[in-house]
Amino acid sequence: MPVSRRSFLGAISPGTAAYSPAIVAARGREAFTAGGAAPTPRSEAKILLDSNENPLGPGRAAMEALTRAFVDAGRYPTNARPSMGDLREAIARRNSVKPENVSMGSGSWELLRIAVRLYTSSSRPLVTAAPTFEMPEKMADQLGIGVRRVPVDKDGRLDLDAMAQAARWAGLVFLCNPNNPTSTLHPARAVADFIARVGQESPETAILVDEAYHDYVTDPGYATAVPLALEHPNVIVARTLSKAYGMAGMRVGYAIGQKHTMDAFNRWGITFNQNSLAVAAAIAALDDPAHIEAERARNTEARAFTTRIFKDMGFRVMDSQANFVFVDIGRPAKAFKEDCARRGILVGREFPPLQKTHARVSIGTIDEMQRAGVVIAEVLGGGRPAPAGSVNEPRRPR
Ligand SMILES: Cc1ncc(COP(=O)(O)O)c(C=O)c1O
Repeated sequence: MPVSRRSFLGAISPGTAAYSPAIVAARGREAFTAGGAAPTPRSEAKILLDSNENPLGPGRAAMEALTRAFVDAGRYPTNARPSMGDLREAIARRNSVKPENVSMGSGSWELLRIAVRLYTSSSRPLVTAAPTFEMPEKMADQLGIGVRRVPVDKDGRLDLDAMAQAARWAGLVFLCNPNNPTSTLHPARAVADFIARVGQESPETAILVDEAYHDYVTDPGYATAVPLALEHPNVIVARTLSKAYGMAGMRVGYAIGQKHTMDAFNRWGITFNQNSLAVAAAIAALDDPAHIEAERARNTEARAFTTRIFKDMGFRVMDSQANFVFVDIGRPAKAFKEDCARRGILVGREFPPLQKTHARVSIGTIDEMQRAGVVIAEVLGGGRPAPAGSVNEPRRPR
């Protein structure tokens, strides 16, 4: 049921925050006594807004397929029915490419790591943004490979011009679109221009476009970079079923690129990097696009609601095209995270270099965001929303 802004603001008015029945029922009255208590561990938290997961989990088709697949759990994923080969075909079908253009990973995490191994070296660094998803950078650090970090612009957008300059003689550019954690997006034209420019100025440099949040984008200027990956041997798109598909625990990710490029990824991947149950669930989910449409619509509504919560309190929110928001809370993310955690709400970690001012909050259901909003308002200084009409005048919170 849609929840109006008015009803949220009603819930958050003075006097009700501390005794919100939903929160008290969920956590008990003691949850409101912050005094020095240790942050709530994830297993005990009531609302999980820290990992950009889908709060509803997999769809019905995926769950039914998962249940049916139990009988084949004793089989290796190449022998089970459906098999890993069937999943590759389902991914290819969904993206209008050939199975040879697909490489699968245990989550897209594995594919990001493989890309760093394949394309970087002691003389060919990684180019990444700051902040962005840290996995490629961590892998480069592990291998002792240089990293060029390019700060995002003031609106949280990847600085494509500076990244193209940094790409000269680099091994790999990690381009996260929409970017985690800033949630912002570059339209299709900008990505295509970037790829063309790097291809001209530094033809040996590979570009990995991470589209983990592809299914949540609503900006009409956006398009996947899959056609570009099919066109250029050095361009790869990475996707995951951990987000809109709600399957983070099942670890299904994939990359798309030219056959030769995907062959190289396949050589580095773990042989059985899918499990038989996840394979069955993933195929069912990929063959159910209506569910993803519905999930996008659900997230879009919850995203608008969540953005409103912060804007009404006077905070600047970056333009989100994902299932999380990135907010200038004007104070360290660590303290915010700990204060929320003590109250049973887990929010995102620190994202240098913006960790002193910005926080990432994943978007749950509207009901969860309504309850979390009460706590967040309390943590961020009194919980009084900005009066109507003043929302465009961000105030520095106390
Ligand atoms: C941008 C981005 N890429 C990749 C991943 C890894 O996802 P997974 O390994 O679950 O597929 C994440 C996870 O949050 C992400 O935010």
